[in-house]
Amino acid sequence: MLEIKDLNVKLKKETLLEDINLKLLSGELNIIIGPNGAGKSTFLKSLIKIVDIYKGEIFLDNRNLTKSSINELSKDIAYMAQFNQNSNLNTIDVLEISRRKHSGFTLKNKDHDLIEEIIKEFELQKFLHRNIDTLSGGERQKIFLAAAIIQEPKVLLLDEPISHLDPKNQIEMLEIIKRKTKENNFITITVLHDLQNALHYANKIIMLKNKRIIDFQDSLNVDEKMVSKLFEIPCKLFWQEGHPFSFFGHSHDELHKNRHSHKKENNDT
Ligand SMILES: Nc1ncnc2c1ncn2[C@@H]1O[C@H](COP(=O)(O)OP(=O)(O)OP(=O)(O)O)[C@@H](O)[C@H]1O
Ligand SMILES: [Mg+2]
Repeated sequence: MLEIKDLNVKLKKETLLEDINLKLLSGELNIIIGPNGAGKSTFLKSLIKIVDIYKGEIFLDNRNLTKSSINELSKDIAYMAQFNQNSNLNTIDVLEISRRKHSGFTLKNKDHDLIEEIIKEFELQKFLHRNIDTLSGGERQKIFLAAAIIQEPKVLLLDEPISHLDPKNQIEMLEIIKRKTKENNFITITVLHDLQNALHYANKIIMLKNKRIIDFQDSLNVDEKMVSKLFEIPCKLFWQEGHPFSFFGHSHDELHKNRHSHKKENNDT
């Protein structure tokens, strides 16, 4: 279990996160949703100490991580950033570097097996000897996601891991993230802006707004009221065959119904 107690982050005098308290379970996919600038990326960065914690404590399986260095943390925590820096590395280098955190410079058979497996799973064969800076945004995103997963961390932090992917790749990657989380008992925390996918794939939804967690829910319990409050925009949620569908914008309530409707037949005439 990952337990976060009274976490506060400040940058100079500005507070970026306030009183974050969470208990996250192994094998579960936790998805953070919330407005731009809410503090989602800052929260992930504070867990891996890219930004300093001002106050609070973090425990992983009752081990206090609060004072650990980034190097120590990176054995237990894998992190994929929202924006990737140019690195001038080939795909295979990125994958091998991921395993060196565990095995040192000389990789073992297990490391090579894991790398082989993820190359097949993510269909990375044709990119292996390409410089990742020359790849498309989506291709690069898949490689960084693969690299985070093969670290086999206890905690997997993914900041908008599918933002550059086409619909097929988005679904494939979310399926893999969910499956690996369960199979490998990861505690996964992923930021997503896509509400439908968030509700469909998450075990738990973390709603972060204005530096604070305003709700932490089983994804099946998330309702229109919570989402509307989070994003300050009306939201309609429908469930069909176990799939959530969301619509943001005005609702066709009493106020609007006589002004217009968006029925298809009106467009056709
Ligand atoms: N190094 C920094 N210096 C100044 N302000 C910062 C810094 N890092 C983050 N912030 C501010 O902290 C707030 C939270 O930023 P953060 O990147 O965590 O937002 P976010 O929820 O991830 O948003 P988005 O959905 O746009 O990615 C923002 O207002 C941002 O401008
Ligand atoms: Mg962000």
